[in-house]
Amino acid sequence: MDFEVAIGEVSRFTGQVIAINIFENENRLTPQVKQLDLALDGTISKLIEQGEIKGKFKEITQIFSMGKMIPTKVLVVGLGKNSELTPDRIRAAAAEIGKYLRARKGDTDIKLGYTLEVPGFEPSNLGQLICEGALLGFYSFKNHVSKSSEKEGSITFNIIISPGENIDSWKQGLKTGSVCAEAVILARNLVNEPANFMTPAILADVAKEQASRYDLDIQVLEKDFMQKEGMGGLLGVAQGSAQPPRFIVLKYTGKITQEIDIALVGKGITFDSGGISIKSSDGMGDMKGDMAGAAAVIAAITAIAQFKPAVNVVAIVPATENLPSGTAMRPGDVITQMNGKTVEIISTDAEGRLILADAICYAKKLGAKNIVDVATLTGACRIALGDVCSGIFSNDQDFMRKVISAGDKAGECLWPLPLKEEYRDLIKSDVADLKNSGGRYAGAITAAWFIAEFADSTPWVHLDIAGTFMLDKERGYLVKGATGIPVKTLINLVMALAT
Ligand code: BES
Ligand code: MN
Ligand code: ZN
Repeated sequence: MDFEVAIGEVSRFTGQVIAINIFENENRLTPQVKQLDLALDGTISKLIEQGEIKGKFKEITQIFSMGKMIPTKVLVVGLGKNSELTPDRIRAAAAEIGKYLRARKGDTDIKLGYTLEVPGFEPSNLGQLICEGALLGFYSFKNHVSKSSEKEGSITFNIIISPGENIDSWKQGLKTGSVCAEAVILARNLVNEPANFMTPAILADVAKEQASRYDLDIQVLEKDFMQKEGMGGLLGVAQGSAQPPRFIVLKYTGKITQEIDIALVGKGITFDSGGISIKSSDGMGDMKGDMAGAAAVIAAITAIAQFKPAVNVVAIVPATENLPSGTAMRPGDVITQMNGKTVEIISTDAEGRLILADAICYAKKLGAKNIVDVATLTGACRIALGDVCSGIFSNDQDFMRKVISAGDKAGECLWPLPLKEEYRDLIKSDVADLKNSGGRYAGAITAAWFIAEFADSTPWVHLDIAGTFMLDKERGYLVKGATGIPVKTLINLVMALAT
């Protein structure tokens, strides 16, 4: 999908379809829509008057122009009440248009004209929101569906603005939006990819490809390195699988100093069967997405490399499968993490924290000043927050606030859960320094506490995306399947650290 901006009257647009927005309970039309209404002999205002078009959020009405202008159709998308307008609603409205285009994508070229005039939003912001919403709503994952021989037509999304509007600002917003959306799409693709197509080695190859495209430094490390560093968590989880593990380190350098301002650590379990503590089979297929944290940090750093903020960032991904076999780790085993802490394995299904612990030790070894980890870590977090908000945990309230506000800007809700000292007792072990499961109660919190033990005094935020990494039903610009959460949050956070 290509985006263009043109100054003109939407009623004179020469493509096949026009999209506009209407607020709920607001009869006054914007100047562009008023002209369109005139061209259609007052059809829009009549439909509003008759209550056919209410302007309710995401309501869609199709009006056929019946030869009154070149476009054959006008799509009227409800934006809800003006007083309830949020940036995410603008994304969602654009997503409705993206979904319309997705349904129509075929062998013909489609040109769509869109006009949106809302007070209180900068054009650069509007451009970004529209572009993100349209691209992410348009998205579908079809890598494994046999393609028909027909070639797909091109789709052009023309934003039509009025004279006097700042066209450069609009264009800049669209550019920002497309970089962010492309990053989210990369993450979605990696998560949606079946585990037989997304092994640790393949994930590392994707990271290499992205590194060379965006000029990032990359190291892909193998088992000998993990042994040398003493990564007993990562090696322990990997030992049951025939697929060799990988440790991926991507680096973006935005300033001359060597210090690393932030490390983004992503859980990279390319398939989580639970290991010897095997999961029940229903829904196990979703565990191909247990590398959604890894996908998010890899994707985010590709966008960061394009925006070029003055910060140094590393993305760190411990990648392995978690499978049962004759060589697999057993419940009751004791492993030693990179920093020397020993862990009693209660459940081999609590594997994420083991690989994250080693990755966080490595981030600290690199001297990272701040750490954010992203992980599909616990079913408990999904039970607590569902698929709406991700859980956020931290040892540093100021840093956590920054991450939450980066999330707000991204339209990605992060909800704090208490990392109170009292919960820490639940992961004490009789036979080792820690145990890897604190049982069913407060499972998201005890998992976070486990990781906190390794972050220690480094400012650290943990995002549990087990509930939000995929949806089983579409919601706005989040389509069914992988969401690409929290790529936009991570991008915003790094951009905010640079200012
Ligand atoms: N990858 C899972 C968590 C998960 C569950 C992610 C559902 C996405 C959707 C994780 O490795 C896991 O198995 N966690 C266990 C931990 C328990 C054994 C302490 C869980 O949440 O049940
Ligand atoms: Mn697990
Ligand atoms: Zn897992």
